[in-house]
Amino acid sequence: MFSSLRYGGINPPIAQEFHRQNIESVVADCLSRAKMTVNDVDAIAVASRPGLLMSLVVGLRYAKHLARKYSKPLIPIHHMEAHALMARLEHRSELNFPFLCLLASGGHCLLAMVKSVNDFSLLGEALDGSPGECFDKAARAIGLMNLPEYSESSGGRAIELEAYKATNVNRFAFPSPMSDGRNCQFSFSGLKSAAITIVQDLQKSSQIEPGQLIPYHEDFCAGFLRATTKHIMRKTQRAIQYCERKGFFGFGANAKSRSLVFSGGVACNDFIFRAMSEMASEFGYKTFRPSKRLCTDNGVMIAWNGIERWIDNEQLYRELDIDSVTALDREPFKTNLIDDVERKNIQCSWLKVPSMQSNTLVQT
Ligand code: KG4
Ligand code: ZN
Repeated sequence: MFSSLRYGGINPPIAQEFHRQNIESVVADCLSRAKMTVNDVDAIAVASRPGLLMSLVVGLRYAKHLARKYSKPLIPIHHMEAHALMARLEHRSELNFPFLCLLASGGHCLLAMVKSVNDFSLLGEALDGSPGECFDKAARAIGLMNLPEYSESSGGRAIELEAYKATNVNRFAFPSPMSDGRNCQFSFSGLKSAAITIVQDLQKSSQIEPGQLIPYHEDFCAGFLRATTKHIMRKTQRAIQYCERKGFFGFGANAKSRSLVFSGGVACNDFIFRAMSEMASEFGYKTFRPSKRLCTDNGVMIAWNGIERWIDNEQLYRELDIDSVTALDREPFKTNLIDDVERKNIQCSWLKVPSMQSNTLVQT
């Protein structure tokens, strides 16, 4: 059972109203497609945190109503933890705890060490913005979203597809954000403002209106995608080196296999995924991601997290007082190691962002 609806970019009261109008029919439709009734489910998993309160409360209220009516246990789910564990559904035989996780979406960018279903340690997070938001804003600014082929697509996907057509990836210069801090913290405002400045200059010099397609937009997309990839890749490399310093996977003969999970909408990007995989493999890590439809926000990830939690500690949820569960706009992971990463003062010899040429699109 799941409950997670998404109406990106819509203002909160309207999103809440959409949730209200659709929650009952979405759940009914889901059950009928699975040829099940609520009586057949063991428990009801629901996203309760972190997120937009107005939307979360609609799902939570309905999940509580079903849980009471059918006497089912309720499993409250952390949205970001659900993204992180999603890859285990499809890679269950290979992807075991612990693993390092990179989550990048339109609302977040973070790195965490994941020891178990409920043991997450934060290594770094975005101080401002997110890669997905940058892609979405840049795609609109350069006029991509007015092209019919991208009318149904996200800004991130539009930028990715145009980037593969570039002829000169160095035509535009983008900054390397936060390159001096020896931490795993992200910042996207510098990249965003550099993109806006380049676009405004081009609009002026080419005498085009805001929103019209800019000249050399393919080269812009490639430069922007590479700069964003470089930032994420470097922070992830430091996180890997931190894991190694801490012996996170164990040492010697007892060491566990080293895994990096990449999830969230931005993990749909084949170039960024390849860059992370190639970099991580240099340190002996295998990189996993969910199939693309499960990287972006979805209900399956909430249901899957419910299953993982149920298997881990069924009794906890059988005894949980449903009234005590509330929606929260924020909830930090169990442990915060951001300062510890900085204290370790890890110097890295940066691996290079791969070339864009040999990229082939993955169709999942
Ligand atoms: O995880 P998600 O569905 O929702 C949240 O923001 O939580 O992520 C949506 C984001 C959007 O900003 C979108 O531009 C980005 O994921 N995205 C991509 C790609 N597909 C979606 N970014 C880069 N490359 C893609 N192929
Ligand atoms: Zn999400």
